[in-house]
Amino acid sequence: MVVEAISKNFFLFLSNNRLLDKLAKKWGPKFGADKIVGGETFDQAVPLIKRLNQQGLQVTVDHLGEFINSEPESRNRSQECMETIRTIAEHQLGSEVSLKLTSLGLDISEELVIENMEQILDTAEKHGVVVTIDMEDSSRCERTLEIYKRLKTKYQNLGTVIQSYLYRSDCDIDELDEYDPYLRLVKGAYKESGKVAFPAKEKVDANLKHLIKKNLLNGNYTAIASHDDQIINYTKELAAEQRIPTDQFEFQMLYGMRNQTQLDLAKEGYTVRVYLPYGDDWYGYFMRRMAERPANIAFAIKGVFSK
Ligand code: FDA
Repeated sequence: MVVEAISKNFFLFLSNNRLLDKLAKKWGPKFGADKIVGGETFDQAVPLIKRLNQQGLQVTVDHLGEFINSEPESRNRSQECMETIRTIAEHQLGSEVSLKLTSLGLDISEELVIENMEQILDTAEKHGVVVTIDMEDSSRCERTLEIYKRLKTKYQNLGTVIQSYLYRSDCDIDELDEYDPYLRLVKGAYKESGKVAFPAKEKVDANLKHLIKKNLLNGNYTAIASHDDQIINYTKELAAEQRIPTDQFEFQMLYGMRNQTQLDLAKEGYTVRVYLPYGDDWYGYFMRRMAERPANIAFAIKGVFSK
């Protein structure tokens, strides 16, 4: 327990190290990162997406990027995202797009993010592609949700993420209800203080179940993003008990994690979406996955997950 907590904090600390982040861009995916990242460019990810689609799995792609703090860089990101959407349409890929608002200028100005997002969402709407705004650390949660609400009044094809470790999430689900939201529900991946987040894992798990139930019973489309059998089985039982149709929810898992479970769920008739990150900015993502479950990486290095 203590070792686990120390290793979690260590990897979360490393995930924020900008020097290592810079070096990692030069190295390219290393230390098994290539097992959980789809390539350095979107073109490298396309054959992977096709393979996943052929296996009956849907995808959401994420162009990895953190610590973007210049306006031109954020505009480049936005252009690249639009290019990705056009490529998805051109190849008729079963794929949505996930993105982080900090990669589009959230830490620079709200107007810049809105401008970038509107261009992306216009392109996505034209091609029938859904875009989900990932949730970052708690200091950005309020601004992310305000931007989500603002954009959701104009665009239908937009989702965001709610983290069950945050105390505020129950109220957020209530407030988002009137926006007909598409929500991905997760436990939460960042290092947060006990002032804003449940320190105990059992509370985080229990709250995730509570939020899943609430959002599904509100009638909203829900993505249950977890590798945890306890959460997956809870959702299946709830759906059966409450007669929630299987087209009102989907399961989501990260690329390279629990591959066989992904396929099994798809065979059972559930929609399963694989979150596939790509890009040279793999470092922060990789470290957060290490923090969650160092065993993931040991497996990844050994190639156990590659099927
Ligand atoms: P957790 O790590 O709590 O593990 C619980 C149990 O599940 C383990 O004890 C084990 O039994 C099993 N398990 C977990 N991983 C396994 C594996 N690889 N193989 C076998 N068994 C495993 N976070 C965030 O803050 N913002 C975001 O936007 C997102 N987005 C996102 C999208 C998607 C598609 C996913 C799957 C996750 C996210 N996350 C996220 C990350 C999320 O918050 C969370 O940190 C991780 O999913 C880890 O929590 P789990 O519920 O998966 O299991």
